[in-house]
Amino acid sequence: MSRAASVPVLTIDGPSGSGKGTISALVAEHLGWHLLDSGALYRAVGYAAGMAGLDVSDVEAVTRCAQGISIRFRAAGKDGGVRVIVNGHDATDELRTETAGAAASAIAAMPPVREALVALQLGFRKPPGLVADGRDMGTVIFPDAAFKVFLTASAAERAKRRYKQLKEKGLNVTLAGLQREIEARDNRDASRAVAPLKPAEDALLVDTTGIGIDDVVAKVLAVVQP
Ligand code: C5P
Repeated sequence: MSRAASVPVLTIDGPSGSGKGTISALVAEHLGWHLLDSGALYRAVGYAAGMAGLDVSDVEAVTRCAQGISIRFRAAGKDGGVRVIVNGHDATDELRTETAGAAASAIAAMPPVREALVALQLGFRKPPGLVADGRDMGTVIFPDAAFKVFLTASAAERAKRRYKQLKEKGLNVTLAGLQREIEARDNRDASRAVAPLKPAEDALLVDTTGIGIDDVVAKVLAVVQP
């Protein structure tokens, strides 16, 4: 077994708005493990491609962009937020928008782009452990993970959560528009040929509809520390 393979991994997959980001950050903090926000990598590639003026449907150009990308995560201080620096630019605010999510979803359907991000993701597996948040963490990137969770929630609840999050960040969105965008993105993520959004066979399914954050964190932690 390689050294990396001996490092424990907890994968947390699920659709947008299922609470993955919040839950993964809290669980990683509780365990003192590293955190991989894999969605941020796809968002960063979409952003970098846009900044470079690339045609985002040009698979070869976007793949080259993904292969050469520099993405750094920097703790933002007291509020616990993380800044994302893409090719030297602080892109944190741009990456949060639903437009960036949709662009990420479009380029994430391109197999060579996914391939270009594999090594980067595997590099996050460092002692004492890793919490990996995404769509294919338990199925493709860390299939050998000892702990796997798949979070779900009803589409209406997921849209409401994203609405609240984006409003708090001062973004101008409507609930109905957001629900449409989220459903379109999830359909694309679930129906793509490569690494579709689906639970790993050995993942624990947790429906977070109507459940508070603390209870979900407790359920997820119980997977690692029964
Ligand atoms: O999780 P987040 O909303 O930031 O992800 C943005 C998009 O990136 C998703 O809609 C999905 O298309 C893509 N993604 C992916 N595989 C991952 C993480 C995200 O395809 N592991």
